[in-house]
Amino acid sequence: MAYTTLVVEVDGTVQTIRLNRPDALNALNSTLLSELADALREADQNPKIRAIVLTGSEKAFAAGADIKEMSDKSFADVFSSDLFARDAQGICATRKPIIAAVSGYALGGGCELAMMCDFIIAADTAKFGQPEINLGVMPGLGGSQRLTLAVGKAKAMDMVLTGRFMDAEEAERAGLVSRVVPAKNLMQEATAAAVKIGEKSLLSLMAAKEAVNRAFETTLAEGLLFERRSFQGLFATEDKVEGMAAFLEKRQPQFRDK
Ligand code: CAA
Repeated sequence: MAYTTLVVEVDGTVQTIRLNRPDALNALNSTLLSELADALREADQNPKIRAIVLTGSEKAFAAGADIKEMSDKSFADVFSSDLFARDAQGICATRKPIIAAVSGYALGGGCELAMMCDFIIAADTAKFGQPEINLGVMPGLGGSQRLTLAVGKAKAMDMVLTGRFMDAEEAERAGLVSRVVPAKNLMQEATAAAVKIGEKSLLSLMAAKEAVNRAFETTLAEGLLFERRSFQGLFATEDKVEGMAAFLEKRQPQFRDK
């Protein structure tokens, strides 16, 4: 499909989706969010794609929801359309792994979009923030919840109430990002991680992603039961037989997603 706000490329097993609204620092307008949900649905349906890298430009992953588009909307407008809800649900429904490769600003909805991905690899130039408070509003795409789960109440409150930015080093210390790399290596590192993920069985990847995400939705006892049942369920797959046989035979496994 052709997109107006995204550049989508497939190389081997990895789909790279680049947010592409350079004049607005990749601000998330309704077209971009809906195109992104479509692109991710397509990636999920394409059997050749095994992992996705979501990125922006060198200066901005995304500088937030599009303030121009939101500026003349009333409560009735955003409540009746349930602004952002459908596309955010579409993005989060992606079953294949998504890595956010963040360079420059990831602010407001941009930080929230990065946190919807499975993990974040940050360039040393990355800046994360939830500055919606400066606009007389507050986070609206998951920031008050996912940032709090990622970095704890103290830092989340600090960021959400003051609107201050966190640099890449602080974000890594706080657990918001999984690794920080020199900006010039960002895409290489993110793509290498996606290729490595793509070598695994898609069945175990999707089950593992569901189980980790379950940790945020349930009690420990329920989460452990969910994990155990998923783990046990994978014993019904051909890929489990192949994976363990390959280990014992000291060779690389050939997974077939069966
Ligand atoms: N929406 C719309 N346009 C945006 C934008 C946004 N969120 N962020 C930047 N832009 C536009 C600017 O208006 C500017 O356009 P013009 O050249 O047409 O004026 C262009 O991008 C470049 O931006 P700046 O000139 O401001 O660039 P800068 O380097 O001086 O500053 C910045 C960069 C600090 C990121 C600054 O642009 C900024 O503060 N942006 C807004 C950040 C923000 O408040 N984000 C939260 C949005 S609300 C939200 O996201 C709600 C939610 O939770 C879902």
